[in-house]
Amino acid sequence: MCGIFGYVNYLVEKDRKFVIDTLINGLSRLEYRGYDSAGFAVDGDKKKEVLAFKEVGKVAKLRQLVDESEPDLTRVFDSHVGIAHTRWATHGPPSRLNCHPHRSDPTWEFSIVHNGIITNYKELKTLLESKGFRFETETDTECIAKLAKYLYDQNRGIGFTDLAKAVISELEGAYGLLIKSVHYPHEVIAARKGSPLVVGVKTQKRMKVDFVDVEYSDDSSPLSAEAASQNVALKKSSGGGGLLSPNGLLGAPDKSLLHRSQSRAFMTDDGLPMPTEFFLSSDPSAIVEHTKKVMYLEDDDIAHIHEGSLHIHRLKKADGSSNVRTIQTLELELQEIMKGKFDHFMQKEIFEQPESVVNTMRGRLDIANQTVTLGGLRSYIGTIRRSRRIIFIACGTSFHSCMAVRGVFEELTEIPIAVELASDFLDRQAPVFRDDTCVFVSQSGETADSLMALRYCLDRGALTVGIVNVVGSSISLLTHCGVHVNAGPEIGVASTKAYTSQFIAMIMFALSVGEDRASKQKRREEIMDGLSKISDQIKSVLTQDQKIKALCESTFRNQKSLLLLGRGSQYSTALEGALKIKEISYLHCEAVMSGELKHGVLALVDENLPIIMILTRDDLFKKSLNAYQQVTARGGKPIVICNEGDEEFSENQAEKIEIPKTVDVLQGILNVIPLQLIAYWLAVLEGLNVDFPRNLAKSVTVE
Ligand code: F6R
Repeated sequence: MCGIFGYVNYLVEKDRKFVIDTLINGLSRLEYRGYDSAGFAVDGDKKKEVLAFKEVGKVAKLRQLVDESEPDLTRVFDSHVGIAHTRWATHGPPSRLNCHPHRSDPTWEFSIVHNGIITNYKELKTLLESKGFRFETETDTECIAKLAKYLYDQNRGIGFTDLAKAVISELEGAYGLLIKSVHYPHEVIAARKGSPLVVGVKTQKRMKVDFVDVEYSDDSSPLSAEAASQNVALKKSSGGGGLLSPNGLLGAPDKSLLHRSQSRAFMTDDGLPMPTEFFLSSDPSAIVEHTKKVMYLEDDDIAHIHEGSLHIHRLKKADGSSNVRTIQTLELELQEIMKGKFDHFMQKEIFEQPESVVNTMRGRLDIANQTVTLGGLRSYIGTIRRSRRIIFIACGTSFHSCMAVRGVFEELTEIPIAVELASDFLDRQAPVFRDDTCVFVSQSGETADSLMALRYCLDRGALTVGIVNVVGSSISLLTHCGVHVNAGPEIGVASTKAYTSQFIAMIMFALSVGEDRASKQKRREEIMDGLSKISDQIKSVLTQDQKIKALCESTFRNQKSLLLLGRGSQYSTALEGALKIKEISYLHCEAVMSGELKHGVLALVDENLPIIMILTRDDLFKKSLNAYQQVTARGGKPIVICNEGDEEFSENQAEKIEIPKTVDVLQGILNVIPLQLIAYWLAVLEGLNVDFPRNLAKSVTVE
């Protein structure tokens, strides 16, 4: 729910202004992840001093605070470590106090930024309070900073990595975190479990290595054998409360055993640290403008940056995990994450859809040969075909895209399909079997509910598939196989292009799974043909932008409520449209399955209630018309989304938004676009913050 950004440089003569600007710029790129407050900590003027700034509101307000405080920006350091955070409140309301970085004590011996939730923070807090620590915030993060100080005080002389290992082994829950300390100047620790972290590396010389070795704790662990066994025993007896030890968690360290890593990743031929910069971030969008060389940390990795080098440590080797972390080259361009000629990211992303859907199909759909190739599923497609059922699991908009393709999946594969909201699926502890295929659909790949459901299904031995937009995200790493949605970075909090690309990725998935059914060949060809035309048809729908803006001004503005009616797969279009309208324009909007209208909702209908009805032609069209008649008979004047030139709806009878006709199962891709535009224009007309709607964040990494 939050964004973390860290910057470490070993560049002689860069001043503090440069460092602060880099941090604030990084935060502004991550603002879409959460934005109720922001803060950072950098090295202070004196040795063992920290300079920290925190402010409620958007990153621009933090910038203003720095400008008004006028710190000495001209100070120059040989190397510099800064950690920063943009927050979306989970524990404790937005306030300067609750905003990160959090500190161990008033002198900031340890500073921490954290994304995720520490579930045992209450126990840790109680224990630390009993050791004399005074907590000053309502956050779960503060206990990490205080725990680091407590363990450091018990074990002075301990290396930073070993201290981090000791701290982390006490934490339960999820975290992506950065630790900075006055005891380890010019060093930073980054650790992840369940929350993403990427390290960007920029050297001034040619990169010498393209991977980093992973070191595991073994006999060279900092814990003396006695202290280690004491620790294990304490954890067993106290449910994780190693701090209950009267001598502290670690006991006195055996300094001869302190772990000293030998690998020096970024050295010059003379054995000196290269002039290097490291960027640590919740996602690559804050790194790409500095370097394209990145390394994705895996769960339980502890990265330690010091003396210009990067080391990866783990408490223990996980089954199947690799001994190296590869440094990858990002294919993301900065302009992809910039607004370009558009006023808002959401608007840009709506207008990108003719291109983003093509990117989703590129190299996969071969129209000439009528084939679909999804490389990420190749070795698993047989297992998927043999599944007892396929369960799609997702949240929000991603859930709606699953709903939209349920029918066509059933039709093409003849496998029973279930669609589940991740939170509800977990609440029910729904039964999952080894011969189920569980498909996790997520733009960010980091949504906590979906991730937890994924772990639940992995534990039960099901085959898991990820349909994810963010490469390197947790869902894409944890699933057995998957399809990258390839819609490009989506910055606007309201998902638009990810929805249409997920839709298409799942249609291709269905075509792939159903490939062995000869009886479906004609239908498959019809759908593939429809896909080949969809981009141009989206372009044509987008030409109605100004007409839709005018409609919003004349009809929907200043209304209290709006109904959106659809049937069959268009019910999912209605659900998605209603969600977009609610989250961006704050206008209450309810999606109703047309067939259900007469079972209650019809009571709301009169000549004043604004209603949008999705009435494009498909097998259910006649039934959908019944709902239209029920509405008009009560004086309702619905706005109709229908196919171009449909004579059923004459000009004087109904206000129309006309949409090109495509194959029935693809129609939802086109029908959703006017609804995205309605949401957008309603928000703009109300002067609302389109890209950052109140109370919402792009990546929902808490339950
Ligand atoms: C709405 C929206 C959310 C997300 C939901 C799941 O516009 O974006 O409803 O769809 O939070 O997020 P992902 O797809 O990242 O798992």
